[in-house]
Amino acid sequence: MRDAQPQAIFLKDYQQPAYWIERTELTFELQAEFTLVTSQLQLTRNDDVAQDGSLTLHGQELELLSVVIDGVEQSGDQYQLDDESLTLQGLAENPVVTIKTRIYPHKNTALEGLYQSGSMYCTQCEAEGFRRITYYLDRPDVMSVFTTHIIADAGQYPVLLSNGNLIAEQTLANGTKQVSWNDPHKKPAYLFALVAGDLQVKEDTFTTMSGREVALKIFVEPQNIDKTDYALDALKRSMKWDEESYGREYDLDIFMIVAVDDFNMGAMENKGLNIFNSSCVLANPATATDAAYQRIEAIVAHEYFHNWSGNRVTCRDWFQLSLKEGFTVFRDACFSADMNSATVKRIEDARIMRTVQFAEDAGPMAHPVQPDSFIEISNFYTVTIYEKGAEVVGMQRKILGDDGFRKGSDLYFDRHDGQAVTIYDFTQAMEDANGVDLTLFKRWYKQAGTPVVSVSSEYDADKQQLSLTLKQRCPDTPGQTDKQPMWIPVQFGLLNSRGQDLPVAVEPASAWTQASQVLHLTEAEQTFVFSNVAEQPVVSLFRDFSAPVKVEFDQSRDELLFLLQHDSDGFNRWDAGQRLMLQWINDAMSGNFVLDSAAEQVLRSLLRDEELDPAMVAYLLTLPSESYIAEFSAVIDPQAIYHARKQVRQTLAQALSADFKAVYQRLSNSATYAPEPRQMSARALKNLALSYWVLTDNEGLQQAQQQYQQADNMTDQMAAFVTLINSSDADLSEEYLQRFYQQWQGDVLVVNQWLAAQAGSSQLASAKFISTLLQHDAFDWRNPNKVRSVIGAFANQALCHFHAEDGSGYRLLADAVIRLNGSNPQIAARLLAPLTKWKRVIPQQGAQMKAELERIMAESDLSKDVYEVVSKSLV
Ligand code: TRP
Ligand code: ZN
Repeated sequence: MRDAQPQAIFLKDYQQPAYWIERTELTFELQAEFTLVTSQLQLTRNDDVAQDGSLTLHGQELELLSVVIDGVEQSGDQYQLDDESLTLQGLAENPVVTIKTRIYPHKNTALEGLYQSGSMYCTQCEAEGFRRITYYLDRPDVMSVFTTHIIADAGQYPVLLSNGNLIAEQTLANGTKQVSWNDPHKKPAYLFALVAGDLQVKEDTFTTMSGREVALKIFVEPQNIDKTDYALDALKRSMKWDEESYGREYDLDIFMIVAVDDFNMGAMENKGLNIFNSSCVLANPATATDAAYQRIEAIVAHEYFHNWSGNRVTCRDWFQLSLKEGFTVFRDACFSADMNSATVKRIEDARIMRTVQFAEDAGPMAHPVQPDSFIEISNFYTVTIYEKGAEVVGMQRKILGDDGFRKGSDLYFDRHDGQAVTIYDFTQAMEDANGVDLTLFKRWYKQAGTPVVSVSSEYDADKQQLSLTLKQRCPDTPGQTDKQPMWIPVQFGLLNSRGQDLPVAVEPASAWTQASQVLHLTEAEQTFVFSNVAEQPVVSLFRDFSAPVKVEFDQSRDELLFLLQHDSDGFNRWDAGQRLMLQWINDAMSGNFVLDSAAEQVLRSLLRDEELDPAMVAYLLTLPSESYIAEFSAVIDPQAIYHARKQVRQTLAQALSADFKAVYQRLSNSATYAPEPRQMSARALKNLALSYWVLTDNEGLQQAQQQYQQADNMTDQMAAFVTLINSSDADLSEEYLQRFYQQWQGDVLVVNQWLAAQAGSSQLASAKFISTLLQHDAFDWRNPNKVRSVIGAFANQALCHFHAEDGSGYRLLADAVIRLNGSNPQIAARLLAPLTKWKRVIPQQGAQMKAELERIMAESDLSKDVYEVVSKSLV
């Protein structure tokens, strides 16, 4: 236990700072053992708040060397210093404060602030990392113009980068190089960045809509220079898309991306100098899968889009995090939908919401999209802030229509350019641009938990009327009870017996938007009456996943099968199939699953349908994952889920064996690999077919080996590899584990995929197997990607082993958390998530999970990060 318990901070306590920082001039002297940072701040008093002439700056893990105020060096009794702050006294109205600190980047394992990754230096300042560089007002409402000077050994660090434009560069006689950068745009400190290294650069240009030429540069370690093309291409497409879809143009003459191997998250949108986890930017066909290419496209876009939704208009405080993250995820999702298949993208997003976000919303860390308190902000970079936040933006577009939404976003950007604002400034712009009142809708930002909508329908043949009654409720979440009804947009259709959409009129007309086919559910209970319904229809609700809710609607298996075949909404075809498959899996759990011939026929017809997008077919034929099934279970029995799913999978493989083989053969081709939508889609179905084929037929396994050997790209090689190592033939599995490593041991990113494939395998990954893997040369506790590849894949994917009856899986995770708590608290806290679900798991397992949480809680020196997650989970 800690000596003093960390304190929560509250949104309701927000106050403006006593001073603003107009200008920030930083000098970094990078030396072998330490870095000297000199910071000169031009302050102006903020007369909107009460003053006592003092100012408290944030600072952590800093060695203070000197403080000078308006030219006068301060003695130790003129300021107060503690572990987290420096308080200055007697400040004038416009003081200049110069602070010198010494920091130790090579000892920085938390990867916040300035640290070393491989041979380079880099920074990560969001959310509160800048305070590990120098004493500062490290809060996003303090926006300053930054000038940065970097001095370093010219031989070791020829490339020295910071935000904005390069304004001076010289090599000094003593072999050091000095460069200066100036960023003319005011920004909060969390967007500051610095990079130093011996890097190579890939360059291109982009001409903006007003005809300005922007230099684009991607900096990487020399061995990675052949992995930059795709990110550069994705960047140019993103820049163009933001101009066309939002009218937003880039605002500096240079845009840089740097790839680093040690990084806590995916990437960071530092102004003009995005820093990326190398796994989210580097790719070539031989080493990156299609999934990796799509992730890169989405993340490059995401960080680029932040230039407007995040940087030009930023957050007033961290309770507003979803203002930038939810909106930017929404923007990158629309971009990905436009670049690839919109339906497939929607399915992928709904899967994340239903597995990860719904679970978070039902657990001890549940929080609103705008939280009202936190202990450690790093713990709030969550699926709720990001993905649910994006859904909440998406619902506003469903309600306002595409044009209305665009008017709202235009007003938002114009009105708040250069400001640090709140989530309600966003909704206000939407309201003002459209003349609507979103008061009710804003409950989505304040109330945590996943609403449940239950539906009943009644058809009156005489009146040709259908009545739908929708009721909503929202479960209690930590600190929140008795929730009020939300404004839930329900996109719908009614199918006639031939599977066509019926034209309908709805009463009350005020609760219906005809153009977008949306019903507005705003009360606890509402009945919608559809007239002119000539025959009993099949109802299709929540098309396109129009709201992030759980739905209770008893539709028969025949109806679900009908929707799977005929719904004009691709998302609901998939959803109907998943609902059906969940029923099969439940049948299997109670020991009476049979695949009926009607269902078998429909699945077969889907496999044979060459008109359908193959990636779509692949999703239609994919069973819900174990974590998806868990989320739809009242009590989670991991072993039962694993075995039931396996049985249904084996049954489908058997029934459709010939078709899987035929599909595999139809989609195998010798075209040169390209990461483009049509090819990726075909490969997705081909490799899905292979994964079924190998379950029933030795020929399938032969084919997998052949594919492994002949593949000219990682997508096909990895797909074959995964089927081979998961085969029931242990020798074959071992052989390919070795072969793959032999081939790829020189490529870090591929080795990480190799680690993840085995650590996430239900076939292989017992706790004992994982312990051995942790000893492998390829593993390194200091590298977050490797920790995620092994511990993360184990605890989130190999569920039958993580939930081993003897508790060995839980113990392994808790040991990892305790170990990482000291070196990298952000990663330690993130890894914890699977243990926090203990209350929902069958009691004999749940009790062991809880015991491991208690063991962590008893540790001394718990970081705030881990303390917050564990203490909230044990309530
Ligand atoms: N703003 C980043 C993004 O979503 C998130 C991020 C990157 C981050 N690195 C981080 C958040 C480190 C917390 C800590 O694009
Ligand atoms: Zn982001």
